[in-house]
Amino acid sequence: MKQNRTSKHNFKSTRSLKTKRKGPAKRYFVTCATANATVDKKFLAAIQNWCDEENGELIVLLGPPHRGSGPRNEAVYDKVLQPLLDSGHATVEFAFNKNLQAIDAQLNPQQLNPLTGMDHYGVSHKTGASSVIFGHPIQVSKPQAVGVATLPRILWTTGALTRPNGYQYNRIGKIAESRHVLGGLIVEIDGPIYHARHVQADKKGSFVTLGRRYFADKKSKEERPLFMKLGDIHVGFEDALSEKATTRLLHQLRPHSLRLEDLIDFESISHHTHKDPIAISKRKFKTLDSELQAVQAYLLGLGELRETGVVDRISCTHSNHSPDHLMRYLKEWRFIDDGADNTRTGVKIMNMVLNDGLSDQDLLAALVDPSGICEWPRLDTSERIEGFEVNCHGHLGINGSRGSPGSVYKAFGPCAVGHSHTPGVYPGPVLYSGTYGIIRRSYVKGSTTALNAHTVIYKGGHFEIINIIEGRYCLPRK
Ligand SMILES: [Fe+2]
Ligand SMILES: [Fe+2]
Repeated sequence: MKQNRTSKHNFKSTRSLKTKRKGPAKRYFVTCATANATVDKKFLAAIQNWCDEENGELIVLLGPPHRGSGPRNEAVYDKVLQPLLDSGHATVEFAFNKNLQAIDAQLNPQQLNPLTGMDHYGVSHKTGASSVIFGHPIQVSKPQAVGVATLPRILWTTGALTRPNGYQYNRIGKIAESRHVLGGLIVEIDGPIYHARHVQADKKGSFVTLGRRYFADKKSKEERPLFMKLGDIHVGFEDALSEKATTRLLHQLRPHSLRLEDLIDFESISHHTHKDPIAISKRKFKTLDSELQAVQAYLLGLGELRETGVVDRISCTHSNHSPDHLMRYLKEWRFIDDGADNTRTGVKIMNMVLNDGLSDQDLLAALVDPSGICEWPRLDTSERIEGFEVNCHGHLGINGSRGSPGSVYKAFGPCAVGHSHTPGVYPGPVLYSGTYGIIRRSYVKGSTTALNAHTVIYKGGHFEIINIIEGRYCLPRK
């Protein structure tokens, strides 16, 4: 067994290899190999297919063994990695650009959240702060707070190209095994910024990214996502660059089902600012009616996507901004003393609630979607896409508490949510989309973790969260 593997001695020697490429490669497939585990040959072939088609390079971070797979200090790698070791592509550290580095931090593969305690990694008084990719079989990502005019800083883990053999037969080992992902991180270097997306392999080794599936037999083909959850919309507060990039992305991916969250901001009647005369004077929408009209026009624009076959279906999740902000406005009687225009609109809407029996999602549908462009599932309904609960905004936790990655996972298992405006992947996985709109709204003071980002789910439950940085989400394809 041992003679077929790369020894610990070779593993250590890679630390002295100069692995930063000077060549033209700008696309990378980054994954990790766990010691004392077998490489999935089909997945490796599919990765190499992607590298050939996209002119990419494979970087394999070498990690420690699953605990319990042998003597604790022995790290032996599958022999198939030897050529990658010889060429410097299997390594323990790699610098992509000033803002992104990859490193093997010797994270225990049985650590259930590999980013626990890692928030300060990548911060140095000499080099500043950068994003960091860690080798680990569980795929997670977590943006860190950054200040104004600072590029995003995100911590990532990779998934593995080694199989989940060798985990301990105990509680932690069984959970770690269930979370082990045959997968990696596609990285594209775009000057000082970078684009990165998780991918996962199926049993035949194939994986999908940006609407194209790559196979182990040197073939690839287009694949429409089953589902796409846009970052929180907040109509009227769209970011122009994000909006243009999202339109390009929608036409490129053509998702079957498109999901909207926090569609209506309800800034015009917000309880956050209703006692603040300065904030009220700066409101974009001076009346509730003007905001509802803007949302109706926005939905008509989305309706064209459906009519032209870019998407097949559009739906809108019950969120805290819409309809909860509106229902609170009504229940607190604020429309009675909120200017003549809002009182008139408020009375009309209250009449729809009291006399017509409409509330929450049904009320929104009647107010902004008379053409029936959108579906409006209620809060207490469920929709699963390839195992992911998608009719969940993520603002509600357990027994009336606030939502968190842990609480939504306990309630729903794997799910795709929004609300935090902070895109990320948490163990489960729980997929967080970001925001569609302006990152720095007036209420965002100081640093922020918000980003423009959308969640995409493909057949087989393969997913990717697509970040939009400075109006771009990938390098142009050849
Ligand atoms: Fe929200
Ligand atoms: Fe939101």
